[in-house]
Amino acid sequence: MSVLNYKQLSAPSNIAVLKYWGKKDGQHPINPSLSFTLKNSKTNLNYKFKKRDDRKIQIVEFKFDKCENVSFKEKLESKIQKIMTDSIVPFGVDLWIDTHNTFPHSAGIASSASSMAAIVKMFAEIYSIYNINQLSSLAREFSGSACRSISLGWNLWGETLLHSDANQDFALNINSRVHPDFHSLQDWVFVCSHKSKGVSSTDGHKLMDKHCYLENRLTNVHNRLKVFFKLLEVKPSIDFFNILEQEALDLHALMMTSNPSVMLIEPESLILMKKITDLRSQGLNCGYTLDAGSSVHLLFPLSELDQMNSLMHRKYFGHMGLDFVDVIYDECISC
Ligand code: DP6
Repeated sequence: MSVLNYKQLSAPSNIAVLKYWGKKDGQHPINPSLSFTLKNSKTNLNYKFKKRDDRKIQIVEFKFDKCENVSFKEKLESKIQKIMTDSIVPFGVDLWIDTHNTFPHSAGIASSASSMAAIVKMFAEIYSIYNINQLSSLAREFSGSACRSISLGWNLWGETLLHSDANQDFALNINSRVHPDFHSLQDWVFVCSHKSKGVSSTDGHKLMDKHCYLENRLTNVHNRLKVFFKLLEVKPSIDFFNILEQEALDLHALMMTSNPSVMLIEPESLILMKKITDLRSQGLNCGYTLDAGSSVHLLFPLSELDQMNSLMHRKYFGHMGLDFVDVIYDECISC
């Protein structure tokens, strides 16, 4: 048998400023979302493959952090079977996959976005798929937020009257519409708990199906996108951080008021959120966002880095007996 060599690739995670929350028509969003990719939080993937005589894609081995992960392998195989249809797959393969995330599990950083984008990039190499839109669309089918991790930088996913090219199937890169200072936006992730979230995003999306605030949510999100578009064209401003926080609060308010109710914010998250808002009222250009978890993402422009380092040094974020599980220092990557 010929010797197979492992190939290496990686895909970034992303953090949304406007959240994808709720699905319709299968794996499509009920509202547009907007995010940027992260420089340090990524999935590194090594793989090797052997062509098969049939059209089957078989994962021979799936390792996560050097350990075999059979349950993930099975879930992935069933997704692959649904998504990688014969029209895309000219030949079958046996696959050996070894992945590693550069960030801890349950840290409040979307691991499905980076890991599923990495899987799609692997198939792109095996099957020579070069069309970015097709890759983003495939990534969406594996995990919605993964479609915003194929192109680096700022990505818009979902229909909106504000952008004629925006669509439900794949994310659109909008780097050229975004002020240069947003391309170096800092994201410090304060991990408030290592407890698993208690609800998967996939189940969380379902809570929007009959949500009593669904109509309000849709109106808010479209109005908010309009404002975001304007604010992203200029330097990061207090107005930008205000609306960023409103959106994060909306996401969690929707979770709390759904049936069953989902409460993911921890007391530590609340203390931090308040501290960050206080900093802004003292004139610091910063704000927070949260994903479907308790971790708090502190966002600020590079120009505030010295101030933030000094606050960190003085334990501003950690005093009052507040101990974080971890802090992950990250930032936007656009190229
Ligand atoms: C709260 O992309 O993880 O992070 O499509 O079911 O895989 P699936 O969901 P997923 O949802 C992410 C939701 C979010 C908000 C966002 O990233 O926009």
